Amino acid sequence: MGDNFLREHAVYQIYPISFADGNGDGKGDLKGVISKLDYLENLGIKIIWLSPIYVSPMFDFGYDIEDYYNINPMFGTMEDFDLLMEETKKRGIRVVMDLVVNHTSDHHKWFKEALSNPESPYRDYYVFKKGKKDEKGRELPPNNWQSCFTGSAWEKVEGEDNMYYLHLFTKYQPDLNWHNEKVLEEVEKIICFWMDKGVYGFRCDVISEIYKESYEDGKKRKLGDPVGSEHYVATQGNHDILKRIRKDVIEPRGGVLIGECGGGITPEDGIKYLQDELDTFFQFDTQLCYKNGLSSKISMKKFKKILIEWQTKVDYNGNYFENHDQHRSTNKYVHGKHTDIGAKMLLTMLFTLRGVPFIYMGQEVGARDYPKGLPLEECSDCVTHSVYKLARDKFHAPKAFSMMMARKNGRDDTRAPMAFDQSEGHGFSALGVKPWQRYNPYSETYNYEAEKDDPHSIVNYFKKVNQLREGNQILIDGKIDFLDTDDKILNYVRVLNHEGYMVILNLTDKKVKYPYGFERIEKEHVLANYDDEAKFLRPYEARVYKINKKEEK
Ligand code: GLC
Repeated sequence: MGDNFLREHAVYQIYPISFADGNGDGKGDLKGVISKLDYLENLGIKIIWLSPIYVSPMFDFGYDIEDYYNINPMFGTMEDFDLLMEETKKRGIRVVMDLVVNHTSDHHKWFKEALSNPESPYRDYYVFKKGKKDEKGRELPPNNWQSCFTGSAWEKVEGEDNMYYLHLFTKYQPDLNWHNEKVLEEVEKIICFWMDKGVYGFRCDVISEIYKESYEDGKKRKLGDPVGSEHYVATQGNHDILKRIRKDVIEPRGGVLIGECGGGITPEDGIKYLQDELDTFFQFDTQLCYKNGLSSKISMKKFKKILIEWQTKVDYNGNYFENHDQHRSTNKYVHGKHTDIGAKMLLTMLFTLRGVPFIYMGQEVGARDYPKGLPLEECSDCVTHSVYKLARDKFHAPKAFSMMMARKNGRDDTRAPMAFDQSEGHGFSALGVKPWQRYNPYSETYNYEAEKDDPHSIVNYFKKVNQLREGNQILIDGKIDFLDTDDKILNYVRVLNHEGYMVILNLTDKKVKYPYGFERIEKEHVLANYDDEAKFLRPYEARVYKINKKEEK
């Protein structure tokens, strides 16, 4: 973890199609982002991460890149981008781009070349392999790997005999071949291009999976890990590539790399990633600890155990509850009716844990999932549709059940247009414009205008937690120690040079007794999500005390 600026500030994620529509076509764009920079500055944001804005057929909403060097016309022009760089610079805000290089879009010219001419050098930019035959002579793909988005990870090449290409995601996202030095060179060129334009760094999409060590069959893995992943998650080749990229192009330019490290990486893998590879990274364990395979609610008991392990073993985690792939945290981590208090408790945790806090647009106002979800025909996410299809066609599940699973795994809820105010277009778009995805009815309640003058609102609480962490060396660099409490409470101290904070969080929607007694803490109350103090912890209560470590005992 090299870079101080990233250590010191939270990162605010923007999903461009849903953030702000600057040209009145119902879709967010760069002009829209520019128009909201004052809003972000007012929140105290210093780093934004833009989900992909490159040219793309948008099958996976930009995570399928057709041209790494140009802006998707849906989002604007290179002039708009340059203006964004100027305007962010004026406000002291840095911009992180998304770098999607496990795969390209099948519309990318490299892939088109690779398909149309098997002799072309671009063939080796991707992973083409011959299929196998079973005992009965039936054709099989090269191995049994599954796509992370359901089904086989191999697609048959039309017009060629028994030939397949690899895609860990949809078939429209062919995987790049990271054994080919040329691919690395291309990616380093892309990085330099954007960094020379003033970009601060990259959030690297599924970066833990780019280097496939072997193409052997995979073994059945634990729920959620696709078959085959032991051959490509956090491989030595992956570490070597990241070291190389860091040394060649990131370090000389003073940038940052933030890794999305899925596939069930372990804290030990994480430790390696932080040694001259990534500045910080996201793991998925704290997102996947559902109450059970069918539930879309997190078990806070499992969550607590997993969180403590990551926090204790890894020096600087990328901490997050929400992003464009996850449900809203109030729906997923908060049980029962105290959702506003719950939202504030989660924000308290996010900004006081050790590591970089990442927040997703709308989280600052307490945005929710759609009350009943969207009907299937209004869902645009490819995962929603593939999960529904799998449930119906393969498992013959009833429609309602299939829809429930599709919604749980699908990502439409979190991609609703942003709500800045209560007007018809919610400050996302102009009056009378149909947004690309319908507004969430909760936007009426959870939006900036409705909250800004209310001292108890989620957005004002967000500002407080963000301010508390800004420039606060104890919360930035202090070590973290967890106190022994039962599963219902998460209790930790952050300490630096004998000064510290004590954080007490009730993870449940029930009243619970705090085992150590508040009166024993030598303290100054600095933050709380209830107005008054009580002898016990109320549902989702969060308290942060300033403590003097020497006197704590
Ligand atoms: C990452 C992205 C997700 C995308 C996938 C494939 O997980 O966050 O949105 O679908 O990679 O690129």
